[in-house]
Amino acid sequence: VTVYLVGAGPGDPGLITARGLELVRGCEALVYDSLVAPELVEEARGATFRIPREGLTQAELNEILISLGREGLETVRLKGGDPFVFGRGGEEVLALRRAGLPVEVVPGVSALSAVPGSIGVPITHRGVSAQVTLVSGQSAGGEELDFGQLASAPGTLVVFMGLARLPAIIAGILAAGKDPATPAAVVSAGTRPGAASAQGELNAIVELATGLASPALLVVGEVVALAGLLERPADLSSLAVG
Ligand SMILES: C[S@@+](CC[C@H](N)C(=O)[O-])C[C@H]1O[C@@H](n2cnc3c(N)ncnc32)[C@H](O)[C@@H]1O
Repeated sequence: VTVYLVGAGPGDPGLITARGLELVRGCEALVYDSLVAPELVEEARGATFRIPREGLTQAELNEILISLGREGLETVRLKGGDPFVFGRGGEEVLALRRAGLPVEVVPGVSALSAVPGSIGVPITHRGVSAQVTLVSGQSAGGEELDFGQLASAPGTLVVFMGLARLPAIIAGILAAGKDPATPAAVVSAGTRPGAASAQGELNAIVELATGLASPALLVVGEVVALAGLLERPADLSSLAVG
């Protein structure tokens, strides 16, 4: 048997891959977390196990996957977005391989591009941004982000898991010299029911994002200003196309 790490996509159940859905439908055990759409869990005919948000360490989770694999059950570990983008997929692959179990990783559509895309923001755009920096707002070891590097990186900045620390992150980037007028957005529950977002200048985004809930992505950069332009065909002449 194989243990499959499958990317579920950013939230909308239609955004899983065809291969991912086939595996969910065919598996004997499905292990999933809270970011996964309930509609996808309903597709599973085998036993399902929801990982609690708190109270389970990565080591305990690895053990669950290993024991399901050892029982000989075709197991799918369904993860939000892509397993290898801030998804701890690498750790799970290592643990399973160490236990001698075959593993296959099925990529998913990451929030990285799909969530900004859900409000009309392309994370790259020719002539506007040719570089993307992605960071986690929460590090495993608790070390602080390198705000100087983030403030000086050209292009688009995408911050995962940053909502709880949004004021500190924005203050850090501004203190490190980022232009306070840089366009920014916070997108909550992108591609899901209840999606909401805030857009504005960097120095106002904390206030504008008040009340938005997790999961949320922070996007900083000139591409955010394209959202409105791409929605209004009359303004397309100002874009670099062709
Ligand atoms: C543990 S990371 C997992 C990322 C995932 N592996 C991916 O590729 O999208 C969870 C973070 O991803 C972001 N995220 C995931 N889904 C999102 C969504 N639908 N809307 C906004 N942010 C999302 C949030 O920053 C959230 O805190």
